[in-house]
Amino acid sequence: MAASLVRLHFHDCFVKGCDASVLLDNSSSIISEKGSNPNMNSLRGFEVVDEIKVVLEEACPSTVSCADILALAARDSTVLVGGPYWEVPLGRRDSLGASIQGSNNDIPAPNNTLPTIITKFKRQGLNLVDVVALSGGHTIGMSRCTSFRQRLYNQTGNGMADMTLDVSYAAQLRQGCPQSGGDNNLFPLDFVSPAKFDNFYFKNILSGKGLLSSDQVLLTQNVETAALVKAYAADVNLFFQHFAQSMVNMGNISPLTGSQGEIRKNCRRLNNYH
Ligand code: HEM
Repeated sequence: MAASLVRLHFHDCFVKGCDASVLLDNSSSIISEKGSNPNMNSLRGFEVVDEIKVVLEEACPSTVSCADILALAARDSTVLVGGPYWEVPLGRRDSLGASIQGSNNDIPAPNNTLPTIITKFKRQGLNLVDVVALSGGHTIGMSRCTSFRQRLYNQTGNGMADMTLDVSYAAQLRQGCPQSGGDNNLFPLDFVSPAKFDNFYFKNILSGKGLLSSDQVLLTQNVETAALVKAYAADVNLFFQHFAQSMVNMGNISPLTGSQGEIRKNCRRLNNYH
């Protein structure tokens, strides 16, 4: 669950800023971001956010926004699985709308090239260090077969398609991720320590065992990002320091403040819902 909550904050912030737009369900006025390509059958943790919100509304009504809950839950989740602590700037307010189009266009896809991924981060005001440090979030959590299958099979249906992938690791992945079917089979993003926040994600990339294409390209498509992958693999403290700073940077993407938006009472719907 820690991983899912970290990812929720990311998928919130990259679409219209950190405004809890990702949490809104479908309604007469909302087309939910939950139905977008990156989110459908993939994003998890909504019920945990609901539980947190219920407790907060009982203790102190209409005060803590759903967007701030996502930022705090991402930080606390990281700490609970062994990662760094950081102070979370607070005061975000919640959106009055959602953008499924933004969700489809602005969140990087696992088969994007590195230049495309860098461009999508730049659009949010995030730099190369943010790209590599935040990709380190994949040191925890799971991916579906469908997100990396294309790396495992060539035109004839066997053998390698992606030569940057370690051969024996690929063979192991094919066992649970067949060429057709098994789309939702889950695999750890960091096969060494999937439930621990550490720097094995970067060590894995150095040995050709990054699960997603978007993980492995950090090493193979750009010398600056490759240098950062090596630095984080060698020095877990440097990774933790940069990850913490980059999470603050990501959490600061276009927040609603002052009288903008609202403090939702239920994270799944607007206060004035129809
Ligand atoms: C750099 C571009 C990124 C791409 C292309 C990407 C892509 C993905 C994909 C495809 C999955 C698996 C989803 C599935 O198959 O259901 C995933 C999972 C995950 N991502 Fe990313 N991601 C990126 C950046 C990030 C960032 C910035 C964070 C947070 C700081 C993050 C945190 C996670 C986590 C924690 C999971 C596991 C979720 C779970 O187990 O529920 N990712 N990502």
